Amino acid sequence: MAAEGAVFTNSPKVNDYDSFAEAYTDHSDADIVNAYYERPAILALAGDVTGRRILDAGCGSGPIAAALRDRGAVVTGIDSSAKMLELARQRLGASADLHLADLGSPLPFPDGAFDDVIASLVLHYLEDWAGPLAELRRVLTPGGRLIVSVDHPIVFKLVNPGADYFATGQWSFEWTFSGQTAPMRFWHRPLHAMTDAFTAAGFRISVISEPQPVPAARDLFPDEFRKLTTSPSFLFFVLHAAHRR
Ligand SMILES: C[S@@+](CC[C@H](N)C(=O)[O-])C[C@H]1O[C@@H](n2cnc3c(N)ncnc32)[C@H](O)[C@@H]1O
Repeated sequence: MAAEGAVFTNSPKVNDYDSFAEAYTDHSDADIVNAYYERPAILALAGDVTGRRILDAGCGSGPIAAALRDRGAVVTGIDSSAKMLELARQRLGASADLHLADLGSPLPFPDGAFDDVIASLVLHYLEDWAGPLAELRRVLTPGGRLIVSVDHPIVFKLVNPGADYFATGQWSFEWTFSGQTAPMRFWHRPLHAMTDAFTAAGFRISVISEPQPVPAARDLFPDEFRKLTTSPSFLFFVLHAAHRR
């Protein structure tokens, strides 16, 4: 379904992480949005992860997996892009536990395999959340945490003022980074559709967060810092898997 008012590109190759994996990684390793805002927020929400078994779902080239491992977690990563996983393996080393897997399919892990799942900036690529959330709950130990970041739903409305905020639908946007442009397509969901999907899948919502970038970013990226501190970009959740009856 197309979200009303959304701008579409006609490129057949949207969301093609394989084709821009290196450019995306170079950019996101250092830019304010990922390095000074999104990743610090995810890691702060995760807190002390010493000894915890964590699945990084949609791990990309592994920056969060690396940070979690540095903090003492036992990390497994999955991603649907072979090229992003190749870069993750370069970052994390040959012995890293990385799997090519799609969140839209059953996951290659037994029930209760993880204490936490991190889903950083990946769920907004999925039309259906029910199946993937059921799988993430299955692989979590009862009481385990699902820590999520997604595009803040207001961003869709800010970019497409004429669109219907309350309708779930797909919209397009062109990314430019490191001199490369990439047509992207995201699924917009209003906030209530997100929270309904989480609770229907058996998660209890513990935290909804709209964090700020870390203070060190103020001098490094003054213009972007002002934007990120005055207008939301991502929305963060900490969810707990309900105990099975
Ligand atoms: C914006 S990047 C975020 C990467 C990483 N989580 C981070 O925060 O640096 C989104 C990642 O999600 C992956 N992805 C997109 N759709 C996916 C799916 N259906 N299943 C698994 N991974 C997916 C992409 O290949 C990409 O690596």
